[in-house]
Amino acid sequence: MSAEPDRLSPRAYHDRTKHQLDRYAAGPGTLDWDAQPDPFRRYADCPEFPLALTTAPGTVSFGDLHRPDAITPAPVDRAGVGRLLEVALGLSAWKQYGPDRWALRCNPSSGNLHPTEGYVVSRGLPDLPDGVYHYRPDQHQLEQRAGFSAAATGSAPAVLLGLSSIHWREAWKYGERAYRYCQLDVGHALAALAYGAALLGWQLRPLTEWPDAEVARLLGVDQPTGGAEPEHPDLLLAIEAPGVASPSDAESWQAWAAAAIWRGRPNVLDPCPLYQWPVIEAVSQGTTKPVTPPMAAFEGVAAPCLPAPEDTRPAVDLLRQRRSAQAYDPAGTMDFVAFRCLLDRLVPRVGVPPWSALPESPKVHPVLFVHRVEGMTPGLYALPRHTDARALLLGALDQRFAWEACPEVALASGLALYRLFTGDVRRVAGLISCHQAIAAQGAVAFALLAEWTPEIEDEPWRYRWRHWEAGALGQALYLTAEACGLRGTGIGCYFDEALHELLGVRDGRLQSLYHFTVGHPRHDTRIQTLPPYAHLRRD
Ligand SMILES: Cc1cc2nc3c(=O)[nH]c(=O)nc-3n(C[C@H](O)[C@H](O)[C@H](O)COP(=O)(O)O)c2cc1C
Repeated sequence: MSAEPDRLSPRAYHDRTKHQLDRYAAGPGTLDWDAQPDPFRRYADCPEFPLALTTAPGTVSFGDLHRPDAITPAPVDRAGVGRLLEVALGLSAWKQYGPDRWALRCNPSSGNLHPTEGYVVSRGLPDLPDGVYHYRPDQHQLEQRAGFSAAATGSAPAVLLGLSSIHWREAWKYGERAYRYCQLDVGHALAALAYGAALLGWQLRPLTEWPDAEVARLLGVDQPTGGAEPEHPDLLLAIEAPGVASPSDAESWQAWAAAAIWRGRPNVLDPCPLYQWPVIEAVSQGTTKPVTPPMAAFEGVAAPCLPAPEDTRPAVDLLRQRRSAQAYDPAGTMDFVAFRCLLDRLVPRVGVPPWSALPESPKVHPVLFVHRVEGMTPGLYALPRHTDARALLLGALDQRFAWEACPEVALASGLALYRLFTGDVRRVAGLISCHQAIAAQGAVAFALLAEWTPEIEDEPWRYRWRHWEAGALGQALYLTAEACGLRGTGIGCYFDEALHELLGVRDGRLQSLYHFTVGHPRHDTRIQTLPPYAHLRRD
């Protein structure tokens, strides 16, 4: 048996974890569903800070989130932070089928396994002691892992949000490919936080210069776990709002973290792991982020978003009703307004979530499998997401594609949709998505192609950012679908090379990172839906 490398490059990992038509990436042969890892991380012996639950949807509409300055900023305090966490990472419902009961959250996750953990680091808030807090979605409360004195970091109020991943949660089910899913889930969570911040009139700024080691130190996830599954640091986001300091003073936070006294014992999620996937740790090592200059900000276009049919509904309701469809009406047609709006909301815009929280120009571009959209010929289409991307895609995809512009779908700032190929692509969409009917039966399916530029080889941590961008695109699709009276589903299982062959992708310059489908959902009436927080009392 060959020894596994202890460090893997993005390319080596990505190639190794491709599903092929005749062979899936390495994963567990059997699963004991009763031994599924605990979906909730808890830290025992920490002071607990319950957060208020939203009792009324409020006056902010979903459309307002897409109009910068439409929302009067809420005060940055415990209630505001609680509201943000509730609509971004909190529970959205419980589901019950026979004796089985499981929680859903506002942020989706591959297999509903939820590897992403949320943190708050705050100083100077009026009603929350300064410190580092782990968010517990099932209790909607903060667990204080460390406190600190304001004198150590300055007294101007400031709040950072942190994300970390417990890779084992996904690896338990998906084996070696799980690292990809963890990264996509981070992208969804990051985007969910950006929408949640917009609800309060706040913006989020990713602190892209921080190295992973310092993120881990600040969140306390480098502390000994006593045998519990480790958390890997992902990123920090600063809340920007009137009255809070823009915490660019990394050194003062880091000095405090170095002196903090930590409390709390993490729970063991899976007491009897049946398999081991050392490749996950190897790619995690190989994509660790060192300290870097900040990633350049990308402002996006200033043109207003196109309105969605259900934009006037309360934003809180829409953020909480997001779900994945398990099946679609194979005869359901998407109307043209919805289709155009779905694409329009993938265009990065100034101050509009989730793009306001993502740095740099877009590097992920959708190819669409259009099945049933009013006024659109079925076939393959491409949506380059910045003005130079058309040339890039044109050079990297099959030279026989038509590249006919679709003026009827013209989007802001000269971005356009292009028809590549005309024909019925339902069967091939389903086949490529690991034979999943949802990709054929939705009205439109998407393959999200990432630019695989040399900087990924030079700065391997960018591999994670590509997935975060793809996950954020997924979150925008999920929420826009709801705002159009439709439903989306993320698709992590697809045959990578079969898709690349279909599109004629040459030289590995583009790689598909995520698939998605949107259409008219079919509801499974056998599954009961219960409210998210009926088990909590907050008087
Ligand atoms: C990264 C990612 C990959 C996913 N892949 C699939 C997939 O291949 N097939 C599928 O039916 N659902 C897929 N889903 C949907 C999840 O199963 C779903 O989000 C999860 O069960 C939680 O349900 P909810 O989205 O309704 O909250 C994926 C979701 C994410 C975020």
